[in-house]
Amino acid sequence: MAQICPISPDSLQRAKAIIASGGLVAFPTETVYGLGADALQEDACKKIYKTKGRPSNNPLIVHTDSFKNALSLTSLTPNTWQHDAFVTLGKLWPAPLTLVVPAASLFPKTVTAGLPTVALRVPQSQAALKFLQAVHTPIAAPSANRSSYVSPTTAQHVADDLGEDLELILDSGETQFGLESTIVSIGERNACLLRPGALTYEELKELIPELTLAKPQSEQETPSAPGQLALHYSPHTPIYLREDAPSNHSPSHTALISFSATTQEENTDYASITTLSDSKNLNDVARKLYAALRSLDTKGLDAIIVDTCERDGIGRAIMDRLERASAS
Ligand code: TXA
Ligand code: MG
Repeated sequence: MAQICPISPDSLQRAKAIIASGGLVAFPTETVYGLGADALQEDACKKIYKTKGRPSNNPLIVHTDSFKNALSLTSLTPNTWQHDAFVTLGKLWPAPLTLVVPAASLFPKTVTAGLPTVALRVPQSQAALKFLQAVHTPIAAPSANRSSYVSPTTAQHVADDLGEDLELILDSGETQFGLESTIVSIGERNACLLRPGALTYEELKELIPELTLAKPQSEQETPSAPGQLALHYSPHTPIYLREDAPSNHSPSHTALISFSATTQEENTDYASITTLSDSKNLNDVARKLYAALRSLDTKGLDAIIVDTCERDGIGRAIMDRLERASAS
């Protein structure tokens, strides 16, 4: 069974030894907890796929501790639009932002799933940066959950999913943002938002006016990111967006996740109501959403009904995850 350890010189030393010997370490970031392996060791990266039950065509994000190190992991050509866009967006690092660019040739195929591009991220959380500095190698890490389940926002979530298969889970408490990083793919002359996150489309478009939104999955011929498959991040209990919820739901077997304070009448309509924010503060909603889904998923309910919000700012990321979780 995995040990859950706070970040300390001792636990970082252990993490370093495990990573160097080709093992896996779960670690916190500001978005969700990651399941890390040395991105330069093929067999170590294969363990990530095996442990998660992840399809081999879904590439990993490579984490590093600085823009300079990230740049050295690309094959970008100086004085090109693509290079300049990477510099412009890379200046936002450390941040909940992942950039997809042409890969340096040093990565094992397992990391990139054989693609010519690599997804790079410099995380913002001090705990993640300490881990990356201690191990001193780029770290390939997906979210530390079983494939297609809800991402973990606490060390205990990781232990619940993967505890049997891991030695060490580094713990720095609840993650700050609670949703996975924003992913931008940078092409030769354009950039595309593949996955919305806490760094918003609106903020990024200020810096790169060429930035476009990926088409919804249903309109794409081939998925732009294999992990963008429709059913993703989903609990076992059926999830309904509030506007699509069946009107004849059984109050004793249905829970509501609300984004704002609820009324007395609503209380009798549900077995339980989880209020993520009293005043529809969407940063609070994003931070607490996955923990609420995980907790309600253990209660043997028939359905979980979830509030909705406008699809802009952080709301775009919240609705993206809820639509995936409720896709049937
Ligand atoms: O916040 C996060 O990004 C967390 C933490 C641990 O950093 N990681 C995370 O990883 O969410 P994961 O594996 O759950 O999601 C990675 C996504 C997938 O959708 C994958 O398809 C996409 O990144 N991706 C990776 N490499 C790619 C590439 N070369 N081109 C397009 N998409 C890529
Ligand atoms: Mg994931």
